[in-house]
Amino acid sequence: MLLLAIESSCDETAVAIVRDGREILSNLIVSQIDVHARFGGVVPELASRQHLQAICPLVDAALEEAGSNLEQIEGIAVTRGPGLIGALLVGVSYAKAVAFARQIPMVGVHHIEGHILAIQLEQKVEYPYLALAVSGGHSHLFRVDGIGKYVLLGRTIDDAAGEAFDKVAKMLGLPYPGGPVIDRLAAQGDASRVRFPRPMLKKPNLDFSFSGMKTSVLTYIESLAGQLDDQAVADIAAAFQEAAVDVLLQKTLRAAREQGLTRIVVAGGVACNSGLRREFKLASQGEQLAVYFPSPLLCSDNAAMLAVAGDAYLERGARSPSDLNAVSNWPLVEAASHFNLLP
Ligand code: KG4
Ligand code: ZN
Repeated sequence: MLLLAIESSCDETAVAIVRDGREILSNLIVSQIDVHARFGGVVPELASRQHLQAICPLVDAALEEAGSNLEQIEGIAVTRGPGLIGALLVGVSYAKAVAFARQIPMVGVHHIEGHILAIQLEQKVEYPYLALAVSGGHSHLFRVDGIGKYVLLGRTIDDAAGEAFDKVAKMLGLPYPGGPVIDRLAAQGDASRVRFPRPMLKKPNLDFSFSGMKTSVLTYIESLAGQLDDQAVADIAAAFQEAAVDVLLQKTLRAAREQGLTRIVVAGGVACNSGLRREFKLASQGEQLAVYFPSPLLCSDNAAMLAVAGDAYLERGARSPSDLNAVSNWPLVEAASHFNLLP
């Protein structure tokens, strides 16, 4: 099936053309970072307007790069949620209009489902596996038993990991989005200059918390009383990244042990982090675990990632109704259970 995939949940408009849920023919992204950067974060109303402007030309460009046209598209997968409601509605409305005009099937896919299955576009990872989804809005651990078969094992009880990176960057006077900047500066910093707490690590559950870590960074910055030179900023970036990675790694390893899983997939924008990649790779060697990271383009928000579940659902006869609505708050397990009722 030749699938058109559309993602517009946050600050990236993304369109992909994917064959059979496996072969990416095009995967284009228009980022709105420049629009939001001067506000230090995503402004929802501006995001919706940017999506509106971007979507039509982006679909045209994606079709052209794929060497196809709208008449050849056989199905549509679109992010239904979670995300910014106005932003999601642009993608969902566009998808519904094309599906209606062309009389082709359409299915609304969960954004995190896209992230945790994206790896399948690059390499075959056998089920079951443990998925750590770390993005600007999520820090979740799932057991993935197959497409549509997810068990939530743990989640953040406050901020998402990416959100914590972004907020710490803001405290340090660094631009939005902060994750990539912290990552770059951490390489020049000395993490041993200060140690930040590892919240929840001693708790025997699989949940995360990043709010306390963020507050201790703020307290430390205040204790420096304005002596925040470039080296101090790099040292804080390194120490914060070390603490965040440590918590994500330890909880993931615990989940793998408890669940008896030997494959780990790390997904979402924070999975681009070089410290996270390094530590997971190192830990896996000692523990006889296989750790998989999608390439950076498939880690951060993109549309191709929706095609893995989208194609499978459409092939099994799943159809979203023509009055499909976007959902800003939508638990993954709830989204998937709907499709599991299918034959
Ligand atoms: O998955 P994503 O593109 O969008 C959401 O679904 O949220 O993730 C974006 C998040 C942002 O918080 C960004 O700062 C973070 O991923 N991020 C990183 C890195 N690259 C992106 N965080 C840490 N290190 C990075 N290299
Ligand atoms: Zn995302």
